[in-house]
Amino acid sequence: MSTTSQQTKLKAAIIGCGRVSIKHIKAISKLSDRIELCALVDTNPDAPNNLLSGSKLKGSKLSAIKSTMKSYLNYKDMLEEVHPDIVAITVPSGMHYDVAKDCLLAGANILLEKPMTMSNTQSRELYNMAESKGLRIAMGHIYRYFPIVSLLHEDMVNGVFGKVGHGAVVVRWGHENEYYNQAAWRGTWKSDGGALMNQTVHALDLMCYLMNTEATKVNGMIANRFRDMEAEDTALGVFTFANGALCQVEGTTATFPNDHEASFFINAEKACIRIALRKGKPSYSITTPKGKNRAFKYLRRYIKKQGLSYTINVAKNPHYGIYHDLYHAVTTKTQPIADARSGYLSVDMVLGFYKSVLFKSEIALPLAEEFPIEEMKSVNLK
Ligand SMILES: NC(=O)c1ccc[n+]([C@@H]2O[C@H](COP(=O)([O-])OP(=O)(O)OC[C@H]3O[C@@H](n4cnc5c(N)ncnc54)[C@H](O)[C@@H]3O)[C@@H](O)[C@H]2O)c1
Repeated sequence: MSTTSQQTKLKAAIIGCGRVSIKHIKAISKLSDRIELCALVDTNPDAPNNLLSGSKLKGSKLSAIKSTMKSYLNYKDMLEEVHPDIVAITVPSGMHYDVAKDCLLAGANILLEKPMTMSNTQSRELYNMAESKGLRIAMGHIYRYFPIVSLLHEDMVNGVFGKVGHGAVVVRWGHENEYYNQAAWRGTWKSDGGALMNQTVHALDLMCYLMNTEATKVNGMIANRFRDMEAEDTALGVFTFANGALCQVEGTTATFPNDHEASFFINAEKACIRIALRKGKPSYSITTPKGKNRAFKYLRRYIKKQGLSYTINVAKNPHYGIYHDLYHAVTTKTQPIADARSGYLSVDMVLGFYKSVLFKSEIALPLAEEFPIEEMKSVNLK
């Protein structure tokens, strides 16, 4: 960490230079007055350069990053030499725990991609570790950073919407077999999970955030209808939340890849909230009991609070919001919006869902003990 007369600058590193890391490097390059990228790490020696060229950064932005950044093959060497303030962990999900633990032990704050880990107890261990060391964990729960979402959460906390009746989530995030065949870890129980753990976990977290509550029970069913992978491509289930609301969930990767859709519905006493993302286009409707749509008012309020440039940046790349927020959390010793708690609670929700499939019964949440995800190998999904 270095402090000039203007402000503190944090040293950042990215471990894992694959698909999602492009979002990270783009976000960091837009926050270059606060965050300096010092290291890119990947076991594949070509990956850091591929990331830089794939990011399409040009001119002064690219040369600024190249001038401060060094590549490493081994993240432990990087931690020893660089002593980063922030480490983004973008390795396959099955490796999150080991890498995150080493980063926390090295005294780094982390931006951990979702899911937090593949285990409910390991996720809690990371949370406890960060708490005891006074370090921050920001989760890659991008939906929390979509425009107006934080205002909806704030109004829910302040009782503006009244009692919540129920909610519904649909995540139809199609991926063909080629996606699963890209890397050995994809679609496996041990290192990735299926449509729930990889794609739908974001949405489960968002429903808890929007409803300002936590899941207490789950009952689910899963299947593998179309994809050649070990885990599920389709999941349907119902959560019960601590506020009494029920929430229906559909998560699938068995739909067409060119027609991605994620939609969220909350039925409350004083408003019906609908947020949808279809083929990359967001839509919002916050309907009052008299049928008026307040979405535009929320957007105006959001822009007034956050500024137009921030709003445009998060709309284009929500990872920008995560870095912006993590910077604030580290420098002011507060918690980020997508904090470590959101990480372990959403892993709990997914593993509880899987457990209810395995035991064919309703499961109480949060899970009281470890549920080893590899037990799911015994379930016949076809
Ligand atoms: N928040 C989001 O929107 C979002 C989107 C996509 C992926 N993700 C998550 O990000 C993670 C990575 O996904 P991806 O699609 O980028 O995967 P990927 O396979 O494309 O990239 C992973 C990279 O990690 C590297 N790697 C593997 N072991 C390593 C090690 N020991 N040290 C350093 N590098 C190592 C691989 O060589 C590869 O380049 C997953 O956990 C995934 O769930 C999050």
